[in-house]
Amino acid sequence: MEGKPIGASRVALSTFMQPEHANARGNVHGGWIMKLADEAGGLAAIRHARKSCVTVAIDNMTVREPVHIGDLLTLNAELTWVGRTSMEVEVKVTAENPLTGEQTHTNTAHIVYVAIDERERPAPVPPLVAETDAERARMEAARERQAYRLRQRNQAGA
Ligand SMILES: CC(C)(COP(=O)(O)OP(=O)(O)OC[C@H]1O[C@@H](n2cnc3c(N)ncnc32)[C@H](O)[C@@H]1OP(=O)(O)O)[C@@H](O)C(=O)NCCC(=O)NCCS
Repeated sequence: MEGKPIGASRVALSTFMQPEHANARGNVHGGWIMKLADEAGGLAAIRHARKSCVTVAIDNMTVREPVHIGDLLTLNAELTWVGRTSMEVEVKVTAENPLTGEQTHTNTAHIVYVAIDERERPAPVPPLVAETDAERARMEAARERQAYRLRQRNQAGA
């Protein structure tokens, strides 16, 4: 299978945060941010694989700043590493106050997806081509994260 560059599957998803996204404190509910991060990451994985993909692991998500109703939330997702059937996607979340232009990087999530075939079994994906030293370094860090996840899974006996 021919390799694909990281840029070929990059996704930017922007959503205007409305009152229906609020929690009881009047800020954006963290669950919305997680859902949107999973959506953006899943779309990047599907674009790379050109197959259906399922979420298999979401690393810790730390939300560093509250996101406010009225903010424009943007999720930038790009692949960092692929295995045979699995792919790690990095999703960076930024909130912008459209009135002032102030931007806040609220969090970064690493999410692993598996491409599946019509029988819902893991299906092979194209290799990921890193084109710059920065991309190669991020790929190596992602490979180490994935090895750590699999060690954790094996220790848990899952
Ligand atoms: C994803 C799924 C098809 C994998 O099936 P499986 O029998 O565990 O398949 P495998 O053990 O061959 O693993 C498939 C790949 O997932 C990776 N994987 C499995 N568990 C993982 C974990 N906890 N963390 C990271 N990667 C994992 C494996 O390393 C393998 O990657 P590789 O092919 O690149 O080497 C199956 O677990 C599943 O259907 N899970 C439910 C997914 C779901 O419904 N998500 C929420 C809704 S989208």
